[in-house]
Amino acid sequence: MILLTFALRLFILCTLFTIVTSQCDDNGVIYASGDKWIRNNHFLVTCRNGKIQTLKCVTDSGHLLDVGSKTFVEQGYEYTCSREVNESLNTNSCPTFADFSDDIFKDRFAICCISRRFKGCVDVNGDIIKSGYFIIGNRSLKYCRIQPNQLQARIEPKGCFNGTINDDINDESLHIKKYAVWREGDIEYRCGDDGVHIQRCFPPELKNKPVWAGSAWIQDDGQVKTCGKIH
Ligand SMILES: *[C@@H]1O[C@H](CO)[C@@H](O)[C@H](O)[C@H]1NC(C)=O
Ligand SMILES: *[C@@H]1O[C@H](CO)[C@@H](O)[C@H](O)[C@H]1NC(C)=O
Ligand SMILES: *[C@@H]1O[C@H](CO)[C@@H](O)[C@H](O)[C@H]1NC(C)=O
Repeated sequence: MILLTFALRLFILCTLFTIVTSQCDDNGVIYASGDKWIRNNHFLVTCRNGKIQTLKCVTDSGHLLDVGSKTFVEQGYEYTCSREVNESLNTNSCPTFADFSDDIFKDRFAICCISRRFKGCVDVNGDIIKSGYFIIGNRSLKYCRIQPNQLQARIEPKGCFNGTINDDINDESLHIKKYAVWREGDIEYRCGDDGVHIQRCFPPELKNKPVWAGSAWIQDDGQVKTCGKIH
């Protein structure tokens, strides 16, 4: 089989000068701040402070790909969703009259091209967190720390977040220490290096004998069961 490479490049789109308002104008269609829509068939974008920002790539069948995700093959096409980055990022390459659309991103750091300083960290939704707790996927909890001069930044590991998007991320009763193990019903979870994962299952049909994540079994009634998501 021949794989065609289909690179979806993210474009940090230009700000249109919508004075004072934080709306976005996408070819004449006005979106409010926080709106999300599909642009050019292949990009899930949002309006953020008057700027259209790409959150995810969309394949032809509508599958959403995270920015920086591994390649994804669908119907013979190989998709990659990456930011257009220059390996040697340099704030001196920021244009003289930069605006917010010129922000540059390295790993999970966002750098403002106007001030040429760190402005925050990028969370699982592609939102920029100026400082404080944020989540990067699998409920992995991090803390974004920008030094006062904004020339240095650090993302600190903080274990996992045991809440939903509706919970307050600063609620420490929902913070879980790294390597903690706990059980909810028939499932045992562990907070590891890359977030919360199922560690063991205690299926009633196996008389609650524990099975490790990655196991599969066939029940008496023929149903196939698995413990955890196999990647
Ligand atoms: C990457 O950045 C370097 C240094 O700023 C510049 O010389 C080079 O042309 C850039 N490459 C691309 C592909 O933009
Ligand atoms: C995580 O949340 C679940 C459900 O709210 C709770 O049962 C469990 O004890 C929590 N885990 C930890 C380690 O706090
Ligand atoms: C989530 O977990 C999967 C499987 O362990 C891992 O490949 C992925 O990198 C994790 N994502 C993050 C953002 O850590």
